[in-house]
Amino acid sequence: MRTDFSPALARQLREAHAVVAFSGAGISVESGVPTFRGADGIWTKIKPEELASMNAFMKNPALVWEWYAHRRTIIESIEPNEGHRALVRMERVVPHFTIVTQNIDNLHRRAGSKVIHELHGNIERNYCMKCGRTYRSDFTVNKEKMPVCTECGGLVRPDIVWFGEMLPEEEWEASVRASEEADLFFSIGTSAVVYPAASLPWIAKRAGAYVVEINPEATSLTKDADEFLQGSSGPILAALADEMERCRREPSTDDRQRRG
Ligand code: OAD
Repeated sequence: MRTDFSPALARQLREAHAVVAFSGAGISVESGVPTFRGADGIWTKIKPEELASMNAFMKNPALVWEWYAHRRTIIESIEPNEGHRALVRMERVVPHFTIVTQNIDNLHRRAGSKVIHELHGNIERNYCMKCGRTYRSDFTVNKEKMPVCTECGGLVRPDIVWFGEMLPEEEWEASVRASEEADLFFSIGTSAVVYPAASLPWIAKRAGAYVVEINPEATSLTKDADEFLQGSSGPILAALADEMERCRREPSTDDRQRRG
């Protein structure tokens, strides 16, 4: 177990009142979900504008549905990993703990985290483009085998933020607020290049948070982070959660001395 945390981080693990965990595709790698960029990344094999855009959907909705159905099957067959579970443990001991995720894979919720802002949507949800009604898989299918709304017959699409689309307003505003209020901010497994989500670590830092990056590789955030914990997120988050649980369970030496 890793215990060589810097004094500044050890203090945050003990005392931080508000913590944000900002996650990207890297946190799900140990569950078997590929990242978007990097050697085996999804976007090295597929052009995002061909599948993850409104243009692509209007041009060939069946192809886009088929691709998301395939990704959904993969995601349903995997499990949250020790990194997701470590964040659940942290949430239990920190007064205000917020997950802000760019991931659509639903693994934070399946792990048991409660406060989650999903900036890029969720692959398990769909909605009607005409009336906005939301669906899991209970929509109907028309003659062309396309998912349509049972209420109004409109085309149903995945609830995923595509290229060129705005982030869900409430989720975004809540994420900015949580970042501004955070004492400690973890940026986990994200290349920190897709805006506006990628601006959150800097928003947190400007507002006074201690920013810790967790990633096997350096990113554009690394030079500005207060600390860079290099490696896979699962074991690092597990060690951080162990330390948080330990020091928040036991009164500190200072507390014991104060009590005499
Ligand atoms: P990226 O694929 O851009 O970056 C994944 C990051 O995870 C990289 O920095 C890797 O070094 C890191 N990584 C790899 N293995 C890891 C491990 N075991 N533990 C921790 N980190 C690891 O994915 P995101 O930053 O999430 O948007 O990409 C942001 C957005 O771009 C996605 O939400 C998606 C994509 O286009 C939409 O779909 C709207």
